[in-house]
Amino acid sequence: MWMRPIFLVIVACFLAWHPVRGLPQVEEPQYLTRLKAKLFDERLITLGSAIERIESTEEGQAFLSSFYSDEEYTIFAPTDQAFKGYGLDSSNIRKENAYWLQDVLKYHITTGKTRLSELPPPRSHTILHTLYHNYTSAAPDARLDQTYGFLPGGDTRVLVLEKDVGDAGNALIRGDTWNVTTVDRGVDWENLLIQKVDRIIPFPSPFLTTLSEPLISTTPVGLTVSRSLINLLDAQNVFNDASGITAFLPVDEDVAGILGALVGKDRGLQGNMLFNHIINGSIQYSTDLLPSKSLITARGETINFFQNDTGTYVSSDNNVTANVLRTDVITSNGVIHVIDKFMANPDYNGQAAASAYSSAVQSASAAAATVTVPAEATATARQRNRASSSRAQLDLIILSTTGLMILAGVTILV
Ligand SMILES: *[C@@H]1O[C@H](CO)[C@@H](O)[C@H](O)[C@H]1NC(C)=O
Ligand SMILES: *[C@@H]1O[C@H](CO)[C@@H](O)[C@H](O)[C@H]1NC(C)=O
Ligand SMILES: *[C@@H]1O[C@H](CO)[C@@H](O)[C@H](O)[C@H]1NC(C)=O
Ligand SMILES: *[C@@H]1O[C@H](CO)[C@@H](O)[C@H](O)[C@H]1NC(C)=O
Ligand SMILES: *[C@@H]1O[C@H](CO)[C@@H](O)[C@H](O)[C@H]1NC(C)=O
Repeated sequence: MWMRPIFLVIVACFLAWHPVRGLPQVEEPQYLTRLKAKLFDERLITLGSAIERIESTEEGQAFLSSFYSDEEYTIFAPTDQAFKGYGLDSSNIRKENAYWLQDVLKYHITTGKTRLSELPPPRSHTILHTLYHNYTSAAPDARLDQTYGFLPGGDTRVLVLEKDVGDAGNALIRGDTWNVTTVDRGVDWENLLIQKVDRIIPFPSPFLTTLSEPLISTTPVGLTVSRSLINLLDAQNVFNDASGITAFLPVDEDVAGILGALVGKDRGLQGNMLFNHIINGSIQYSTDLLPSKSLITARGETINFFQNDTGTYVSSDNNVTANVLRTDVITSNGVIHVIDKFMANPDYNGQAAASAYSSAVQSASAAAATVTVPAEATATARQRNRASSSRAQLDLIILSTTGLMILAGVTILV
């Protein structure tokens, strides 16, 4: 008879040492109050105030209470100094900006706890999915405005995180013209990891703007050949209006080769050559560029990937192989991978292009069905979190200095 209580004590000790991940320790009504107190404690006064403003709308309340769940999240928390850089502090962050602040916050929160100590070495990066989808509201400061550009279906915007070469204890969130740097080593609070950063993470630029940026050291004025070709073909709006686009675009070093391929061709063939570098309707990050995977271009041609000791390569149906020089430059409606060659494939398969586009759109809307805008009750929020956790992917990509690529997709399923 006396063995039973002992058994229970043993079980209780076991559970105490091996806690099952569950709801936060604090009770739901106190969750947000305690979170704000924690942020104020951490001297994140403006962020705490921003959360108070977000709470002033019904939608904001529902969004914030969805964090009381059994999911874990990382908040990239801009310091007061970071807000001040844009003239914002707790006294001038207004209720009228609640929807914008909510978008900003969504863009600073990623699923899972991402600890700096667990990142791969410098020159490798990690793709983190945020909670932010599409533009909803204008910013109080034009420099922080969201840019025109939509993602397909339920796709969420990502952050590209990597260890700082100069100080491997820190990490950088990389953009086309900016880096945001972490400030400390992160603080755990309940199901959240609060990771301070030195800037508000800028929303990504429009696709065509990014083409003018020095994306790699050998392209100080951007990818001018691609830009000129887009202008020549009057295709600006095709790129502006695309909802989800993946582009493999060449550096300008091979200008002679590019001109050689284009000169004397009619606009139709020139268009095919350009759009055979584009995947229409879907966003493929570096983690998707796998040897086992082929993609169909906007002109219906296939491109394939392979890796060897010198790096990652993409090859087209016309047997041109290009080296991928920089991956995952994020734009407002897609992603750019910089390659070293123009692939110049003039072929066009309309049927394959149309079917690739429609299956991209279909799978995007299927994804959208599982990730919805916050509703009301916490119970439904928790269900929603569970649904979205199936796509909560921590995609890891390890790209060593020699260019050898080792891929690991770690999927966190609850
Ligand atoms: C984002 O906008 C695109 C284009 O309008 C739409 O297809 C998609 O469903 C939207 N996604 C979300 C989550 O609102
Ligand atoms: C951002 O960091 C990367 C990697 O260290 C560096 O190559 C790049 O020049 C930095 N960009 C800016 C705008 O500071
Ligand atoms: C994608 O396909 C749609 C439908 O055919 C077309 O209207 C659009 O211009 C294409 N966009 C790109 C970037 O190729
Ligand atoms: C990797 O493949 C590329 C393209 O075929 C080739 O140029 C390069 O020499 C290869 N590298 C090695 C180490 O085999
Ligand atoms: C590409 O290479 C394959 C295999 O060597 C060959 O069958 C095909 O005809 C080539 N295609 C072109 C367009 O040169």
